[in-house]
Amino acid sequence: MAEGRFAGRKAIVTGAARGIGLAVAQRLVSEGASVLLSDVAADVGEAAAALGQPHLQSDLTAPGAVEALFALADRELGPLDVLVNSAGIIGRAAKLMELAEADFDRVMDINLKVGLLATQAAARRMTPRRSGAIVNLVSVAAVMAGGDQIPYAVSKAAVKQLTAMTALSLAPYGIRVNGVGPGPVETPMAAAVTGAGPEGLKRVLSRIPLGRMARPEEIAAIVAFLASDDASYLTGQTLFADGGRMALGYFAEPIAEPA
Ligand SMILES: NC(=O)c1ccc[n+]([C@@H]2O[C@H](COP(=O)([O-])OP(=O)(O)OC[C@H]3O[C@@H](n4cnc5c(N)ncnc54)[C@H](O)[C@@H]3O)[C@@H](O)[C@H]2O)c1
Repeated sequence: MAEGRFAGRKAIVTGAARGIGLAVAQRLVSEGASVLLSDVAADVGEAAAALGQPHLQSDLTAPGAVEALFALADRELGPLDVLVNSAGIIGRAAKLMELAEADFDRVMDINLKVGLLATQAAARRMTPRRSGAIVNLVSVAAVMAGGDQIPYAVSKAAVKQLTAMTALSLAPYGIRVNGVGPGPVETPMAAAVTGAGPEGLKRVLSRIPLGRMARPEEIAAIVAFLASDDASYLTGQTLFADGGRMALGYFAEPIAEPA
């Protein structure tokens, strides 16, 4: 059996075909976990094969899809220790008056409702064993307004509170629930945040004290910490990994030109 903080542990990571979810799966496997990789994207098979792990390609917003994922984990992995909810979309940018109801529903479905259903499915399996850890991907958009992604920001604010509410529900069973709230991360999703071209990126970086976006591996390291026994006294928290953005006050010096 592999050595490491997750030796012998079983995990599900959603949104694991790429980006943060893939980096989390890689990190957990490197620390000894068996991981079921879940994604709607076809390349989840390749990602899982590269790690020697099982996968399921499915749209988690489809009826019964979340339960099917956990049923597969029961068969392929056995008793579940860790759930990481990373599947998500940013949705189409739209001003308030142009925002379509269907677009709002689509974002809430995957970002919020699937997270809730997956938390329930994980809790059903973890409560009898009185242990487990759940980590949700939140975002700075949960607490900072701006841009034209109203459904995304609202969904992430809800996920932050879902994290706190479910942490309280599950604390009596020794199950911890925490969130990681990144600023912009170098993934396919980030282009939608920074806008097209170098000007958009420059504008975003001009407010990040560390002067750069996060790498997916840096976010994965925090997720792994929260999922591990190193975080045994942390629950209900969302850690904002934002390169110092939220520490920036009105009177702070302008951020130096990034290298
Ligand atoms: N990239 C960023 O800048 C950033 C910042 C803050 C928070 N986040 C959050 O982190 C999480 C991961 O983001 P990322 O940057 O890795 O994005 P990403 O787009 O690279 O990866 C998200 C994955 O989720 C999958 N997915 C989407 N809808 C799905 C569905 N219905 N069923 C199954 N899988 C589905 C996608 O196929 C994709 O592989 C998201 O929840 C996102 O909101 C990202």
